[in-house]
Amino acid sequence: MSAVLPPELSELVTAAREVRERAYAPYSAFRVGAAVRACSGRVFVGCNVENKSYGGTICAERAAILQMVSAGETALVAVAVFTDAETLAMPCGLCRQVIAEFEQSAQVLAANPREFKLLAFSALFPDPFVLSR
Ligand code: THU
Repeated sequence: MSAVLPPELSELVTAAREVRERAYAPYSAFRVGAAVRACSGRVFVGCNVENKSYGGTICAERAAILQMVSAGETALVAVAVFTDAETLAMPCGLCRQVIAEFEQSAQVLAANPREFKLLAFSALFPDPFVLSR
């Protein structure tokens, strides 16, 4: 699968796949790993962290972005999401808005062990909320 991806995207898929092993998903049993590449080239990873209040759950994509921002980076060029689900998991609506906060012409890659889908973030989320007064 990753053989047809450029190395920088293949590396992101591998990172997302590895961090998925640390997902904390006792309520849904749906384990997600995400990796983002900052403009600097650095890679940050996150897994979903569920909570018994349900609403306190943090998605893998946002967990990865929190790591990126905490490291002092506020621009990203690629996001990879890895699950083993039958249907590829694209970032949820809330994560899309959070990605929109930091993306710079980002690519989004959703993958499972069998296939992947690569698209421009602008195609996935063409009209984000903009705060303008
Ligand atoms: N989840 C993510 O990690 N990313 C998404 O984009 C959507 C959903 C997680 C949240 C929850 O732990 C589990 O998947 C089931 O919704």
